[in-house]
Amino acid sequence: MKTIFITGGAGFIGSHVVRLFVNKYPEYLIVNIDALTYAGNLENLKDVENKPNYRFEKVDITDAGRVNQVFEQYKPDGVIHLAAESHVDRSITDPFAFIRTNVFGTCNLLFAANQLWQNNYEGKRFYHISTDEVYGALEKDGSYFYETTRYQPHSPYSASKASSDHFVRAFHDTYGMPTVISNCSNNYGSHHFPEKLIPLCINNIRHNKPIPVYGKGENVRDWLFVDDHAAAIDLIFHKGKIGDTYNIGGNNEWTNIDLIRLLCKVMDRKLGREEGTSEKLITFVTDRKGHDLRYAICSKKLQDELGWKPSVTFEQGLEKTVDWYMANQQWLDNVTSGNYQQYYEKMYSNR
Ligand code: NAD
Ligand code: TYD
Repeated sequence: MKTIFITGGAGFIGSHVVRLFVNKYPEYLIVNIDALTYAGNLENLKDVENKPNYRFEKVDITDAGRVNQVFEQYKPDGVIHLAAESHVDRSITDPFAFIRTNVFGTCNLLFAANQLWQNNYEGKRFYHISTDEVYGALEKDGSYFYETTRYQPHSPYSASKASSDHFVRAFHDTYGMPTVISNCSNNYGSHHFPEKLIPLCINNIRHNKPIPVYGKGENVRDWLFVDDHAAAIDLIFHKGKIGDTYNIGGNNEWTNIDLIRLLCKVMDRKLGREEGTSEKLITFVTDRKGHDLRYAICSKKLQDELGWKPSVTFEQGLEKTVDWYMANQQWLDNVTSGNYQQYYEKMYSNR
């Protein structure tokens, strides 16, 4: 049985990756390594928590001693590293939290994995999940981010992710550690913390609260359904070339304002409101500092070399996403009230 660490498994993307791996690979022991920050929620994994090939370890990756301890205990064959501080707005108010987790925490994991594997790298793999934001911002000119695009991060979040990417490559180039990196565009789907644009809009619309649009809403993001990201991670973890980098994107660019208008229409339909009702909630607010104008990723390499392609159109993915939030309004209430943080205490206090 192979043992795989998935860090950040209680978060948005991590929970989708844990679910996919636990269900698809009964021969793997999947250990979810997560500190359960405000973004980590074990309720996201209710459906797999009792599976025999799943374990949860509450570990803060900034704590080197605790990281070394779990590496010693489980001796993992692979690491899929998603744990991170992930919200740009938070990075603008507290950059140090991003340096601690994204840079220092990643180095702790790299160091511990290398200590464990250095005498025999055969069958081992450290897979680092990164973002397209490391490449900086594009003009509205039809250009794209490629794997070869120069790193030019602007926000403290993207600077911390860029730094962690460099450390991952440094461990490959210096020690020969078997690493691989992917850089993905904006994800959307179920279990997404409602501080990010799409779940925030859904939550505000259902409560008839203003929808805050930064600046003029002209910034462009390339949206990918989270299950398609998880499928790409599965493929790259198993088949990606050691030392290589893969871009993952939806080829699905939307200005924020167009996306919000579409979401308003879908929500009006789901809530039985007259079309145009939710749009009235749109409120233009002060722009984000250093707001990147446009992200657009070319994932041709992943498509050509590993045969990946998105499984849903944006319209299908958005429909599924809205349906999930409407069917799981208690989840939204729990995460916005902070109640979800008691779930861990209940589940694990007597184990
Ligand atoms: P998220 O904020 O929803 O989840 C992050 C998880 O990491 C949480 O479970 C949290 O508890 C955990 N965590 C945070 N600090 C930790 C620490 N010190 N020790 C252990 N665990 C810690 O994030 P997400 O949106 O699921 O993103 C996951 C990864 O994917 C991140 O590395 C992010 O940079 C990357 N990414 C995200 C997107 C996106 O659109 N969300 C796009 C591309 C790449
Ligand atoms: P976000 O979901 O925070 O992702 P990222 O900043 O990593 O791309 O934001 C997506 C886009 O939506 C981004 O251009 C900022 C914008 N935005 C708003 O206009 N209003 C909001 O309330 C939020 C959270 C984001």
